[in-house]
Amino acid sequence: MAKILVTGGLGYIGSHTCVALFESGHEPVVIDNLSNSEAHVKNQIEAITNSSISLEVLDLCDFDALNRFLEKENDIAGVIHFAALKAVGESVEKPLLYYQNNIQGLINLLTAQKNAIPFIFSSSCTVYGDSDILPLKEDFPFQKAVSPYGSTKQMGEEILKFSAGKNHQGPVIALRYFNPIGAHPSSKIGELPRGIPQNLIPYLTQTAAGKRTILSVFGDTYPTHDGTCIRDYIHVMDLADAHVFALNRLLEGKNKNNFEVYNIGTGKGCSVLELIHKFEKTTGVAVPHKIAPPRAGDVTAAFADTELAETVLGWRAKRSLEEALLSAWNWEKQLP
Ligand code: NAD
Ligand code: UFG
Repeated sequence: MAKILVTGGLGYIGSHTCVALFESGHEPVVIDNLSNSEAHVKNQIEAITNSSISLEVLDLCDFDALNRFLEKENDIAGVIHFAALKAVGESVEKPLLYYQNNIQGLINLLTAQKNAIPFIFSSSCTVYGDSDILPLKEDFPFQKAVSPYGSTKQMGEEILKFSAGKNHQGPVIALRYFNPIGAHPSSKIGELPRGIPQNLIPYLTQTAAGKRTILSVFGDTYPTHDGTCIRDYIHVMDLADAHVFALNRLLEGKNKNNFEVYNIGTGKGCSVLELIHKFEKTTGVAVPHKIAPPRAGDVTAAFADTELAETVLGWRAKRSLEEALLSAWNWEKQLP
């Protein structure tokens, strides 16, 4: 059982990944400052896995506290680094907060790390920007970032590309997530947006549940088959599994390079209107919606070329979009 440090492990993707780690025989050790998560998520992970999990409430920007913690935890075999701020709009309003939290947090973690151990980084398909060529492939160049948030993901990858394998840094895999949705089938963990949701699925499920009156579809004149934006929606449990595949590749020393990048998506694009209709058909619940003006910064279409993850990591998404939507709905229904 390898001890794996999971930063941001009580967050949306981190909590599902903790479950996947336990199920694959690893032992997650979580650091989280609870800035965008709730302490009780720890109990929920424990209830699903029937195991106890170690949690350190700590801010990665507090170097001394982090360093003390890592001096104590000297048998960590790998790191999965989720901890970051992720609200695109907020990052435009508070750019320095995003650079400080996401970049300073990453540098502190790399600096405080004691041994050259495997490191998995949460990147995003946002690094590709608005590409005319689809599906998106890992070797496409970065486009100019449209938000400070996206810029922190590009900078994070650059920092890791140059530092991986140097001094006391181990090998790194950056996973470029497409659009994670859904929840664990137990409905014990899921997405917990604070305030008004900015992302499509939590807004949609809250509307279906009657907590919001109507869902705005941002734009219907994009050059797509129905005019609405296309994304690659992936079940969060598939995304969680991808971390285990990436981690095992590094732990087993199968990586060819010190820095590798993989797209983590399904390879299938779905428009906003298609998603709403699929949700309605799958759950039998209507989603009141209206067409609204486009949202600034949205790209027309983004979906993954998944060949590299399939052939090299041996991972591919197994769960259907219907399963993901149903799990998101089951999660929403049991929320207060
Ligand atoms: P989340 O906000 O649910 O989880 C992030 C966790 O990190 C939270 O629990 C938060 O409290 C913690 N955290 C933030 N800053 C911290 C700090 N300085 N020190 C300690 N803990 C800190 O977000 P998520 O959706 O689970 O995303 C996880 C990662 O994946 C992030 O890096 C995010 O940028 C990236 N990502 C997410 C998406 C998405 O759509 N959810 C897409 C692409 C990439
Ligand atoms: N949308 C609506 N109405 C809403 C919310 C969203 O029509 O109320 C549309 C958006 O315009 C977009 C699609 O639904 O076309 C998906 O939007 P999300 O906000 O759910 O997701 P994004 O693709 O904009 O971005 C998300 C994360 C980013 C991450 C990216 C890729 O917010 O941080 O996925 O992983 F980089």
